[in-house]
Amino acid sequence: MMNLSRGRDAILEVKGVTKRFGGLVALNKVDFQVFQGEILGLIGPNGAGKTTLFNVVTGFYKPESGKVYFKGRDITGKLPHVISRLGIGRTFQVVKPFYGLTVEEAVKVGAYNHVKEKEGVGRRVKEVLEFIGLTPLSNRLCKHLNLVEIKRTALAQALAAKPDLLLLDEIAAGLTPTEINELIKLLRKINSEWGTTLCLVEHVMKFIMNISQRVTVLHYGVKIAEGTPQKVARDKKVIDAYLGAV
Ligand SMILES: Nc1ncnc2c1ncn2[C@@H]1O[C@H](COP(=O)(O)OP(=O)(O)OP(=O)(O)O)[C@@H](O)[C@H]1O
Ligand SMILES: [Mg+2]
Repeated sequence: MMNLSRGRDAILEVKGVTKRFGGLVALNKVDFQVFQGEILGLIGPNGAGKTTLFNVVTGFYKPESGKVYFKGRDITGKLPHVISRLGIGRTFQVVKPFYGLTVEEAVKVGAYNHVKEKEGVGRRVKEVLEFIGLTPLSNRLCKHLNLVEIKRTALAQALAAKPDLLLLDEIAAGLTPTEINELIKLLRKINSEWGTTLCLVEHVMKFIMNISQRVTVLHYGVKIAEGTPQKVARDKKVIDAYLGAV
């Protein structure tokens, strides 16, 4: 069996993380790695703890125990804006529609997290809008966008801060097969041309199995499998817990 982790540096390392909500253990001693430069899929049934894991990594939740390391540095319990500056970006499962802002303004909000001078911000925003294919919509109000456009705007906003690691929570949900294929191309381009490491939470299996180089599976807050998409798709535990039902 090929060892996918051999010789690779983990850009993100989650060690023994436990996160509780009252009596509910949302994450139970989870060990989880994302390797530099890879595209990793994170899957599991509803309530498995996927979004909670993103929230712990990005500082929205503090774990009861365990550690989170980013590029070898302990970031456990640091505040979201600090973690964002260090180079972890994210999009949210429930898309914020940025009411009242134009597409360009929404992306600018992301860029300010990375660039200080006004000129640099303008340049970065232009570059990202062009790369994501949003230039023609720059001046459109976000409240007038359709679902695929709002998702692209959220992606552009996160990318504007030049993250080294980008966590995407259900970015393909609700998209048509054609839109999903375009999204796959775009994400591959972000990964290969900008070198951004990607971690994707998703229920759309065609999407996750197509784009991911590695897949990690959570079930009731416990990691039950990881490996190539092919290996994970054949895993009996994964089929019983999740894939059998999808
Ligand atoms: N802020 C919170 N307060 C209380 N319980 C929470 C909170 N956030 C998540 N939970 C619970 O923790 C568990 C894990 O939730 P989480 O949102 O991480 O699941 P998920 O894997 O992202 O699921 P989905 O695929 O439905 O988005 C669930 O049982 C959920 O109800
Ligand atoms: Mg979720």
